[in-house]
Amino acid sequence: MSFPQVPVFDLRLEEDDVQAVLDVYRSGWLTMGPRTAEFERAFAEHLGAKHAVAVSSCTAALHLAYLAAGVGAGDEVIVPAMTFAATAAAVVYCGATPVFADVLGPHDLALDPEDVAAKITPRTKAVTVVHFAGYPAAVRELRALTDAHGLALIEDVAHAPCATVDGRALGTFGLAGAFSFFSNKVLACGEGGLLATDDDDVAALARSLRSQGMTSGTWSRHTGETETYDAVGMGFNYRLDEPRSALLLSRLAKLPRGVSRRRELTRAYRARLKDLPGVIVPYDDAAVEHSTCYVLPILLEDASRRNDVRTTLRDGGVQTSIFYPAVHEFTAYRERFGTPSLPQTEYVARAEITLPLHLDMDEAVIDRVVTALAEALR
Ligand SMILES: Cc1ncc(COP(=O)(O)O)c(C=O)c1O
Repeated sequence: MSFPQVPVFDLRLEEDDVQAVLDVYRSGWLTMGPRTAEFERAFAEHLGAKHAVAVSSCTAALHLAYLAAGVGAGDEVIVPAMTFAATAAAVVYCGATPVFADVLGPHDLALDPEDVAAKITPRTKAVTVVHFAGYPAAVRELRALTDAHGLALIEDVAHAPCATVDGRALGTFGLAGAFSFFSNKVLACGEGGLLATDDDDVAALARSLRSQGMTSGTWSRHTGETETYDAVGMGFNYRLDEPRSALLLSRLAKLPRGVSRRRELTRAYRARLKDLPGVIVPYDDAAVEHSTCYVLPILLEDASRRNDVRTTLRDGGVQTSIFYPAVHEFTAYRERFGTPSLPQTEYVARAEITLPLHLDMDEAVIDRVVTALAEALR
């Protein structure tokens, strides 16, 4: 196996992060317990949200958010196709149908509120917005639209654990926000997620269903707080465990510093990419200040060149990725839900290249990537 000289993503844990995890292993209590509760309190405070419910993944958080919104068989949920499959898959777990809406275009890869409005039917139950790469989507406009139609707004905040609109954290604008702590995310622990909400009933349902609908958990029985339990709902095992909670707690304190560095690196990229012919860099400089800058997407004006450009970059030691192949074009979705026409999404899905962006790189690496890109485009 040969590793790229410039990987698209990298993660370096600091010594105190590792120590926090070791402490948990030495404590002898590994499943959901006091550290998870502490992480939930810290994350709720970080967001300014009333409740934070830690779960095993963002996919689990989305599933619970949809269930809390009352999504069930026969319902529709409007979602972008320019996202990771989980946004739509969790709709299908509820027996409902994902209805794909288009994104705004090459300069903003988030949901187009006009296309969402056009896709609302009597069966629509919710709309899910993805804050692509951590850049705030038109969340106020979408909230006004969902309120006007009596629908739930769900935020897929997998990319944006530390981004704001008018000083308010993304993930707090809808009925619930679903965060991801997957390895390559801005706040990572390997596998993990969280549902944030200001709604007491949504939080109670998520807490119950993440652990088999049980009235008490293992930690509460271990400490003698409760003796036994009932199962009052059909739940799942969506629990987060203590080592990962400890890692997240340790890394949460460093999140603002990490995001601020990501913004610096993104500004450095933007300055070098702005005059490169044939390349579109989505968003603008002002948007960077409100984003987590999770990834650095660029679009080729001529999408037919993408494979060649990526191969040349790879051969030069620069790894790239694609965020995202369009979900409505995946086999499993085409077979079940047909192929709606989403022209902007389809262009982005064919033209996008994700360049390396992570905290283990500096401006010299960015120079190298942009020089290699310029050569590949010539
Ligand atoms: C936009 C989006 N939604 C949902 C997910 C699913 O997250 P997880 O892997 O934590 O389930 C991801 C993860 O890649 C994502 O990027």
